[in-house]
Amino acid sequence: MKEKQIYVCSNCGYESPKWFGKCPICNEWNTAFEKKSDYNNLKSSSVTFKSVEQIKIDEFRRLKTNISEFDRLVGGGIVPGSVLLIGGDPGVGKSTLMLEIAENLSRFGEVFYITGEESEEQILLRALRIGVKKNSSLKVTSTSDLEGVLAALNSEKPVAIIVDSIQSMRLSNVGLPGSVVQLRDCTEALVRYAKSTGIPIFIVGHITKEGQIAGPKLLEHLVDVVLYFEGEIQTGYRILRSIKNRFGPSNEIAIFEMRNDGLKEVKNPSEIFIERNNLSSGSCITSALEGTRNIFLEIQSLVSKTFFPSPRRLSKGIDIGRIVFISAVLSRRLNIPLESFDIYVNVVGGLNVKDPSIDLGIAVAVYSAFADIKIDSDCIYIGEIGLDGRIRKVNNIEKRLMEAHKMGFKKVVMPYDKDAKKIKNLELIQYSSLSDVLKELT
Ligand code: TYD
Ligand code: MG
Repeated sequence: MKEKQIYVCSNCGYESPKWFGKCPICNEWNTAFEKKSDYNNLKSSSVTFKSVEQIKIDEFRRLKTNISEFDRLVGGGIVPGSVLLIGGDPGVGKSTLMLEIAENLSRFGEVFYITGEESEEQILLRALRIGVKKNSSLKVTSTSDLEGVLAALNSEKPVAIIVDSIQSMRLSNVGLPGSVVQLRDCTEALVRYAKSTGIPIFIVGHITKEGQIAGPKLLEHLVDVVLYFEGEIQTGYRILRSIKNRFGPSNEIAIFEMRNDGLKEVKNPSEIFIERNNLSSGSCITSALEGTRNIFLEIQSLVSKTFFPSPRRLSKGIDIGRIVFISAVLSRRLNIPLESFDIYVNVVGGLNVKDPSIDLGIAVAVYSAFADIKIDSDCIYIGEIGLDGRIRKVNNIEKRLMEAHKMGFKKVVMPYDKDAKKIKNLELIQYSSLSDVLKELT
């Protein structure tokens, strides 16, 4: 069979058997490049199929980074041959975490750190800061030539490889560095290397303004584990969240604190985001279960008369859809005239909360801002809100109540729930609708 040529757009990945000057999909000019079609001329293959018995359990031995929060997050350590993608804003601490992991793993053998972003001197300075030992078997190179790296690795047997960042790597003959095709091909090359050698690879990825790993979702499909760094750079806390994990729980979080000597894990994060003094009006305390972590949070809201034809809703740390939803329930079911008010809602501390059990906390914060009422800081509000204005049960209420008791809260306002057992010194105040909760506040 004759080998077939195909042309690929280096901007969007569009493929065509014919050359094109302007890509018909993304309308970019001169982005077509030649690529050999991989799937013709298939010769004998090195692929072998194993029966379930033949797979050695040894292959599933996990490498412990000794950063226990990180190991827990990925499901008990790094699976051999796995590829992990770590995304986050610039300056959030990706390179720092990678260097700490590299140093920890280097106790098993050589760890290769490939940086296309910084010089070797910069890596050394960071390494000194976080206390990497002089005799560490950590190896560093500053290059963006991924082919060169893969060739050099042929004669090596590292314990792990770190690529910082995937956007700075390039393979020859596949379009501009940082283009979608480069990103995909570089990632694919690394995935192939990891799978064929059993060596785990950590890939750092930048995220775009919209908060996705640059070079769309496509990278996420290629790798085994996707972790995102969240948190405000100004505060010391950084949250690492697993978005995808083929070998463990997803949507689990681990919390770190950025100190002068690197990232340190926060083992008991329950209370770090709240201050237990008087709350001002517009604030209320709630709790969220993120993965297996129960975290107490302060929700802040500001409600002000609007000068716009349609009122503004802005949020930080909560999906804006949730705010629109809850303000619609407050307007329609409880007749609070929020249509003529702008609403701002913020989760203090920079955590992005996914748990819908903070709905009631949001509603109480917004109402407290609207009516200028102060909320008791010894009380927490837990519950999901439905479009009908009723408060719905949340999962794992027992764990949430135990944590509330442990932290010394006095009252919990929550939906009716027969699984909620009474706990000494913790008053459970159960309601079925949002209007009943708000009535009690006035
Ligand atoms: P870095 O890991 O370079 O972030 P990224 O790779 O995600 O862009 O970390 C950047 C910030 O962290 C930088 O502003 C300095 C700060 N930092 C500390 O506060 N303490 C430290 O020990 C280190 C290494 C960095
Ligand atoms: Mg970096």
